[in-house]
Order: sequence, then structure tokens, then C-alpha cells
Amino acid sequence: MCGIVGYVGFREAADVLIEGLRRLEYRGYDSAGVAVRTPEGLRVVKRAGKLSTLAEALEREKPQGTLGIGHTRWATHGPPTDRNAHPHRSGKLVLVHNGIIENYLELKERLEQKGYRFESDTDTEVLAHLIADHYQGDLEAALRAALSEARGAYAVVAMHEDEDALVAARTVSPLVVGLGEGENFLASDVPALLPYTRRVVFLEDGEMAVVRRDEVRVKDLAGNPRPLRVTEVEWTLEQAEKGGFPHYMLKEIFEQPWALENTLGGRIHEETGEPVLDLSLELSRFERVHLVAAGTAYYAGWAGSYLIEKLARIPAQAEVASEYRYREPVVDEKTLFVAVSQSGETIDTLEAMREAKRRGAAALGVINVKGSTITREADDVLYIHAGPEIGVASTKVYTAMIAALTLLAIRLGRLRGTLSEAESRALLHEMKKLPRLAEATLERAEEYRRVAAKYHQATDYLFLGRNLHAPTAFEGALKLKEISYIHAEAYPAGEMKHGPIALIDEHLPVVVVSPKGPWYEKTRSNLQEVRARGGRVIAVATDGDEEIRDHAEEVLYIPEVHPLLSPILAVIPLQLLAYETAVLLGRDVDQPRNLAKSVTVE
Ligand code: G6P
Repeated sequence: MCGIVGYVGFREAADVLIEGLRRLEYRGYDSAGVAVRTPEGLRVVKRAGKLSTLAEALEREKPQGTLGIGHTRWATHGPPTDRNAHPHRSGKLVLVHNGIIENYLELKERLEQKGYRFESDTDTEVLAHLIADHYQGDLEAALRAALSEARGAYAVVAMHEDEDALVAARTVSPLVVGLGEGENFLASDVPALLPYTRRVVFLEDGEMAVVRRDEVRVKDLAGNPRPLRVTEVEWTLEQAEKGGFPHYMLKEIFEQPWALENTLGGRIHEETGEPVLDLSLELSRFERVHLVAAGTAYYAGWAGSYLIEKLARIPAQAEVASEYRYREPVVDEKTLFVAVSQSGETIDTLEAMREAKRRGAAALGVINVKGSTITREADDVLYIHAGPEIGVASTKVYTAMIAALTLLAIRLGRLRGTLSEAESRALLHEMKKLPRLAEATLERAEEYRRVAAKYHQATDYLFLGRNLHAPTAFEGALKLKEISYIHAEAYPAGEMKHGPIALIDEHLPVVVVSPKGPWYEKTRSNLQEVRARGGRVIAVATDGDEEIRDHAEEVLYIPEVHPLLSPILAVIPLQLLAYETAVLLGRDVDQPRNLAKSVTVE
């Protein structure tokens, strides 16, 4: 939800800012802008539309200077125009912001009475004028005073024409300081820093930083010094690049064997046949599990809840985070709250976790991004270890999340005695095959592409799946709608006859996820019901299932795998179906309209 960068050092700031914004564009791409302190004063260049429009403008007239800030926007207040693009200026001061200032109307009225004139519709401009109003030769003090009057979520970076520093602060929205030699950086997320440094400081909620060329100081919002907690990040620049693929999404789909290997790496104990999760939480004390998440992570959590109930016989429920928080969930100290999130920053998930903790639950984060807010606030973290995911549509992290949740389910099953050592060993043995099986699935990409091409002009799609494959169906539909903009609905297969069956005609492609497993027969009956009404069935089936060909127009085969692990493979053809359809329709796969990868507003 908006990406911000800051630079102070010896390089041309405009170049560093554009490079950083390019890596943060996944956070929003409605407009982009930079401000650089030049010998003639502050220069702001900003443009509606994608970063490339700004980059072209900067090529024509690049502001020269070594101190600057930049922003890529996901619009909240005011449409995506040049005027509403960040940075926002008030006299000699400029500001970039990620978040929402909730009391901005009240502050705006006050500032207008004082004579400030507003050029944009944004809440951010209010903050710029508010800081300027407090400014008396010390930007740090002015920012602190302004923030004491502002309510809401923010990561902000400000600079002043007369000062050599960047001053930043955060509450809720993320902000990372990158440490260099004779230069320092600020960014919403680590990939923007990777070309320059892997030494970072994740600012905590309620912290601010004063960043100069040779010095970084962290304080709380009252001005008290805080220690500089330096972390060395493991991600490499190469991992955050496209590596020869036309899109990040495709690269990430093909990285799934590696991601699964990494998620499972070192977590399967050969001798004892136990998952090794290195958690300090005493898992045996919980009597119920709430898995809470948003978007794709929610579907992974949904699959996780079924696995936990099956293997550990503990009541487990998955829920969308934005609903959970406000419905007064029944939670106590016997509840294990599992926050499932790629970014670890999704505000709905974070706030749901805070709510559950307030009510006494213990929180476990199942998270991909190290050092993210949820990892810091959770009582314990099970890292997904899938490497950086840049494509807005999540792919490799989905399958890796399910793998991590499967390990958790097995662990809980062992602790509660519902899963024997032999069963655990057998399942873990099957899990070790997952990277290779994912690779074997990806080898069929050409075939999946052919099927995508056949249906790419459909205007609607229906996805059906039963039990562990209900989440697969929902994730398949989500992938298709978010990147191709084709209307796609998903239903638990058995629920189809209670409504969506009315949609079926000879035009509607219906994807039925029906690999071999305990739910196969029932799902196949649903598939036949679709066929009997003229629907165009595309089945996802297990190798060797020839019979299904009689009932389906096309079959997307996946390798044979343990039924409990089949969600990890069955979604792969659906990811490629969505990808190929979007490419054929000329959509912007990595940056679909209106979306953002990390949603830090409610
Ligand atoms: C956004 C993204 C989705 C993602 C969801 C949850 O909606 O567009 O791809 O699944 O947020 O993100 P998280 O980082 O919490 O997994």
C-alpha cells in the first residue's frame, strides 16, 4: 500500500530513488514522484500512472542532488492524478507517506484557517503543512510535534531544504532503514535496498529515525533514544530480479520446487520422523486454533484448518481477518491464533492478531517476510522461507504456506497423540517428495497453456472443489479474476447444486478440482452434474485417471501424490491457467489494476 524510499549519500538521488521505487511498485502504481534537494532548492517531479512515466520525465530533466525521497502510490484519498501524487510540499518541506491520517479533515480545517492553501485531495498534504506549521529550524522536532496531533497509520519520510537529513517515523505502516558506507537509505520494504546493502534496521511501531549520510539515529516518538537493532537480511538481489522470465509471477510459479525445498529444509527429522519447528510456544496446551488471514493467505489458512482438524483433532477454523476483528470472537488463553501472511504487514491480519492477543490468545505468525510487523508482535513465528515474492498475485508463497501449515498440523497431531509415529513418518516422507513433484507438475506447463488458450475468451468461469480442494478452487478463481479480470466464482463442489448450478450453460468453463483422494467420487458426481447441463468441464485430475476424460472437455493432469498434500500440486495448473489467460488478454500480469501486494489500510 504505497511504497516510499529515501536516500542520503554521494550518488545521484534521483537514480537511487527510481531504482528503489521500481522494486516497490508492487505496493501500488497509481502515480509516482520524487523530490531531490538541488543547489537551486527542492525539486519535485511527479506523475500520474506507472513509474515508467515518471522515469521518462526524469530522463528529460533529472534533478541533481544527493538527498531525496520518492513514492509510488496506491490511492486512498483522491483520484490518481499528478496533483494527488506524492511527494507533497509545504514551502521548503516535502513529505512522502504510506497510510491514512484519520483526522485529516479536522486538521485541514484548522490549517486552512491559518492560511495554508491545499493543492491536493490527500490526507498527506495536511501532514506536510502541519509539519511546516511546527517548523522552527528543526525538522525532527517539527515532525514529532505534528505526529502528536495526527491519528491513524503512517510511515512518513520528510526532508527540508535547509537540512542535510531525512526524518522518518512509523506507526503501523512498515519502514526499514538501509545502512551503507557514506550513504544511508529508507524504504518500505527490503527489496528496494538490496542493490546497495543487506544491513538493515526495521523500525518498530512508534519509532522515528534521523538519517544522515554518516549517521542513523533511532528514537521513540517522544524523542528518547532507542538502540539501533541491525539485521543482516538473507535475500539476495538476484532473488528479487526476474531472472530471464517475462514476469515475476511466472518466475515465482517456477520457483515453487525451490520454495518448497526451503520451507521444508531442516524441518523433517529423519530419525524420529517428527517435524522440527523450533517453536517456543507450548503447542500442547491449546484447545482450539484460529487461522486468520487475507486473500490468498486466507485460502492457505482454510486448507490448514482442515489439515489441523484431520491430523490433530483440535477444533480449527479459518477466517478472513477483516471480519474476525470486529465480530467479538470468542478467544481465550487456550486459543492458538495463527496469523498467516506473506508480507507480515497486512493491516487486517495484524489488527485481528492484536485483538486476539488482547482477549488472551497466544499468537503464532506463519510469515514469509523476516522482521515484518506481525513477526515482531506475534508470540512465535514459523517462517515460510519462500524467498521474496514480488508479483502482486501470490503463487509460491501459497503452496509454501500450505506446506508450513501441514508441518504444524503434523506436529500438533504428534503432541496430542492423534497421529502415530509411523503415520507422521510416512506423511513426512511424502512431503519430502513435494519439491520434485512440483517440478514434475511444472514440466506440463505447455499443456496447461494450451488449455488456457482454448478458453481465454470466456467471460465467466466457475471453480469447484471439495474438502481440501475447496480452498484450491477459491484460490484458482482468485488468481484468474485478479490478473485477467475475467469474472470467476468458486464454490465448494457440493454446494453447487444450491445455486450456482443455474449459471451452467454451454458457454461456461467449469474447473473441477478432482485429484484422487477420499473426496474423489463425490466430486466426480458434481462434475457429471455440470456435464449433464452442457457445462464445459476442465478437470484437474491425477495421472492415470483416464475415466475422467469421458466427463471432461479437458483434463489438467498432476502427478500422483498423497491426498493430504494434493492441494500443493493441484493449484499449480490453475496458477498457470490464470497467468496464460492474462498474458493472452494483454493484461499487466505483475501489476493488475487496482490491487496492491501489501495492503496496509483497512
Ligand atoms: C493482498 C494481495 C494478495 C494477498 C493478500 C494478503 O490482497 O493482493 O495477493 O494474498 O493481500 O497478503 P499477505 O501479505 O498478508 O499474505
